[in-house]
Amino acid sequence: MKFQAPKGTRDYYPPEMAWRRYLEAAWRRVSIRNGFEEVEGPIFEDIELYKVKSGDEIVSQVFHVSRQEGESVFGLRPEFTPTLARMVAAKANALPKPIKWFCMPNLCRGERPQRGRLREFLQWNIDLLGLDTPLADAETIFTLVDLMRELGLTPQHVKIKISHRETVRTILTMLGVPEDRIIDAFNLLDRRDKMETNQYNAKWLELGLDEHKIERFDQMCRRTYPVGDVAHLERSIGGESIADLEALDRELTRFGIADWCEYDLGIVRGLAYYTGTVYEAHEISGAERAIAGGGRYDKLIELMGGPAMPAVGFGMGDVVLSLVLADKGLLPDNVSPPVDAFVFPADDDARDNVCRIVTDLRTAGLHTRMTYKTTTNVGKLLKEAAQHAARYAVIVETPTTSAGNIAVKNLTNGNQSEIPLAELVDHLRH
Ligand code: HAM
Repeated sequence: MKFQAPKGTRDYYPPEMAWRRYLEAAWRRVSIRNGFEEVEGPIFEDIELYKVKSGDEIVSQVFHVSRQEGESVFGLRPEFTPTLARMVAAKANALPKPIKWFCMPNLCRGERPQRGRLREFLQWNIDLLGLDTPLADAETIFTLVDLMRELGLTPQHVKIKISHRETVRTILTMLGVPEDRIIDAFNLLDRRDKMETNQYNAKWLELGLDEHKIERFDQMCRRTYPVGDVAHLERSIGGESIADLEALDRELTRFGIADWCEYDLGIVRGLAYYTGTVYEAHEISGAERAIAGGGRYDKLIELMGGPAMPAVGFGMGDVVLSLVLADKGLLPDNVSPPVDAFVFPADDDARDNVCRIVTDLRTAGLHTRMTYKTTTNVGKLLKEAAQHAARYAVIVETPTTSAGNIAVKNLTNGNQSEIPLAELVDHLRH
């Protein structure tokens, strides 16, 4: 019997696993230096949790799990935000504020697998709760930019597109979309690039816009406005939420990341719980799906039975990010843990000493590998050391070991030297 991995999932062989750990290490490093603490939750939850306020699309993608027929059904997590809101609601009073949490869960969504979309993926989450000022929104956006920089990306590669749900609501209301259809209008706008133009425009007609208004709205959503100059946006729109964007504008400028960001009213986000600022990170040509997406969700903790608590954050998947890094030539060559030493015997009598030396080096914390071959041909064994990308080859010879010295070859510059055995660990550390 032959089996294949389920559609849209990945097997992690050593190179893929090394990349995953490298990316997770960058996510963790950036989270910690920005003051976020790591959390984790269960991989399945009561299915009702995902129905509270995530929206129909994501609910339709939840995989159902149960132990056996007739028993209660759980949902495999399609996102982390509902779990986070549940966890915060349960201990809201005891948790020191503001709450700054990060996590890196694997998530499952029953989507059609395609470029940038899988059925199981990793998602870095950054969330800041308990602060309703735009400083919090800006700090999450700064953390997102910090990660991009960490991996070598620049504002020439990626833009953070920022909008505000209330600003878009004001425009839609001005154009005549009835209050009870605003959520439908948000969802439609979110699907803009996934739909045929005719079909997209027909839906706007249904929502009450005539052709002239559709054209006007489309023009508004297709242009972008620079951060650091929110007055531009104000003149073209107005409305109360512009004050929020003005304050955010100042913070983004203070954080020194204005050149990474722009306003784009075409961004509303598909999830139903967002209440204010919304943002997405996109590869600049627009060829890929969003690298990350987030925003303010000020009502969700209350909806989960907790106190009123403002919240803002984002999720970044590993799939689109890896595609963008590969496209820009920014994937590092070798992300496997570096091998410090490769040890082999140069004659049969030296074989007994190999294990002892390997054990000493490993005990000292050095990443040490050895040959399993029967040959003592030094040329062949040096090749094997190079295949392991070891920094040093440790060549064990009977006469030298008994004299208390050992031959060490630096495989980066090719220099070989004899050093006292007692100095081996120190030598290999440098
Ligand atoms: P989301 O927009 O659904 O937001 O997902 C955020 C990111 O996760 C996307 O931009 C993408 O990189 C990645 N992603 C989503 N679905 C897939 C998929 N099927 N395959 C690969 N990558 C995917 C949320 O999940 C929110 N809960 C984020 C959030 C956190 N908002 C506030 N805090």
